[in-house]
Amino acid sequence: MQKKTVMDVDVDGKRVLVRTDFNVPMDRNKKIKDDTRLRACLPTITYLIGHRARIILCSHLGRPHGRVDENLRLEPVARRLSELLQRPVKPLREAIGPGVEQVVSGMQEGEVVLLENLRFYQGEEENDPGFTQELSKLADLVVNDAFGVSHRAHASVVGLADYLPCVAGLLMEKEIDQLSRILENPARPFALVIGGAKAGEKIRLLEHIIPHVDLVLIGGGTAATFLKGGGCNVGISAVEPDKMELVMRIMQKARALNVTILLPEDVVVTEKLEATAITLVVSVKQIPANCRIADIGPLTITEYTKELKKCRMVAWNGPMGVFEVPEFSEGTKSIAMVLAGLNATTVIGGGSTAEVVTQLGLSGKMTHVSTGGGAFLQFLSGKILPGIAVLADRNQSSSSIPTLM
Ligand code: 3PG
Repeated sequence: MQKKTVMDVDVDGKRVLVRTDFNVPMDRNKKIKDDTRLRACLPTITYLIGHRARIILCSHLGRPHGRVDENLRLEPVARRLSELLQRPVKPLREAIGPGVEQVVSGMQEGEVVLLENLRFYQGEEENDPGFTQELSKLADLVVNDAFGVSHRAHASVVGLADYLPCVAGLLMEKEIDQLSRILENPARPFALVIGGAKAGEKIRLLEHIIPHVDLVLIGGGTAATFLKGGGCNVGISAVEPDKMELVMRIMQKARALNVTILLPEDVVVTEKLEATAITLVVSVKQIPANCRIADIGPLTITEYTKELKKCRMVAWNGPMGVFEVPEFSEGTKSIAMVLAGLNATTVIGGGSTAEVVTQLGLSGKMTHVSTGGGAFLQFLSGKILPGIAVLADRNQSSSSIPTLM
């Protein structure tokens, strides 16, 4: 990798701000449902503990957009991390300010604290210099281990590099190395399976991904907008009305580049997204006006399976339906099982997709399970991720990056 890592700098006794992506799924009782993203950062944290750094962890959780949301405090994350590391991880109630500075200045070597959710502050998403400067006061250097958020030009991801030396953590290094190796010369045919939430963002990225793949299989939340764009009535399914034109452009671009885009033929629909709800399997041409799409249907599963079996490389981001509800999880489970049995390179990206694969015990059967969702797609599109761009280069002279104090 061209970028400096935590192993290339002196961390002994230093205050190290570690940007992580601890954006993990939690249930109503604030119990972490999947701790993959926490485990993935353990190598960096234990390395820093072993090298007597003072470790200040920071992350976002959810999208509180600059307001304190009691449900999105990072305290449960600190508790779980503490169990995994078998040492205390002190959760702080703020991310910046005199109280935090005081705690940090009293930290012992090897001690670990976790700042409060960075997105409780407007300055984080706005990459506000005032907020960034406050954050930078806490540390001597930054280790970015948050591959999953490296596609966001936020204060803790990009802004900090103006004030402090910024190097990659071991997870960041692993993600960049593995994804670069896999995507440099992908085996063909190369399919992308795309679904899940955040449909608007995914559709935007698809435009840039199309030239890199041979086939796109669409399910989940993304499918409704494509189906609507193709003239189907999708009932009360959520669609991205401002993306219809883009959907048309993507379809045209795919045709011009000879890339096949497959949409569901049939879907599981329901009036209510709950386990007790009545479900129907219908053709996409016959979705009732009072129903929403909750999963891909059996014909679509068969068709997608047939296509995937021809592929030598598959990247998958986003469940095919509302997989948390057993009635709507069949499509997602089937795709996971097909991928696990393929004689092909398989790359899984995104919190929910990784969660499914982990739940089914199939992670070990995939070539790589990435901690990034949007970041993974952006990487796939060949775009430079802003959070990676600002990391110090290996050949960068120390005079051109902010120096250690
Ligand atoms: C993710 O879950 O993909 C990352 O944590 C980024 O989250 P965001 O889409 O809310 O920026």
